[in-house]
Amino acid sequence: MRFFLILSMLVITSCTYDELLVGCMDSLALNYDPYAQVDDSSCIFSDCEVNSPSFTDCVEPIFIEHCWGCHFPSNPNGILSLSNYEEIRNQVLNGNVIESIKREVGFMPKNGERLTVEEILIIENWKENGAPNN
Ligand code: HEC
Repeated sequence: MRFFLILSMLVITSCTYDELLVGCMDSLALNYDPYAQVDDSSCIFSDCEVNSPSFTDCVEPIFIEHCWGCHFPSNPNGILSLSNYEEIRNQVLNGNVIESIKREVGFMPKNGERLTVEEILIIENWKENGAPNN
């Protein structure tokens, strides 16, 4: 009896072990994997502080992820370039960027999903703080 118990436990553990998904299990991390079952210490955290956002850690990554696909000098349609600090600062300070991301879904990012509440707040706070190059 004991033999079968141990045998069946071995079978169960060896089967499930193969199927465990490893990854980062902290939902605050940039590379959070909602399907991970075992944490492999691979979590990467952002240095972005939403209340005093830095250009490099907070603002630029938003433009890289959501805007650079179109707003780059190399875009053949010649649309507004938002590819560096100067260009981003000018368009944030004159209000164009914030207006465009708060309009109807699909306006900016064009045909994409609206930025998250946190991403919009980051850009607004950065503007409030005078759009520093930090
Ligand atoms: C899929 C391509 C695409 C993406 C991604 C995109 N844009 Fe645009 N954007 C455009 C095009 C094209 C225009 C020119 C106006 C138009 O066609 O609506 C434009 C125009 C603008 C303008 C000028 C608006 C005006 O009133 O003329 C701003 C500001 C802007 N985009 C900001 C952004 C920001 C900020 C992001 C990222 C959060 C973004 N866009 C992402 C394609 C895009």
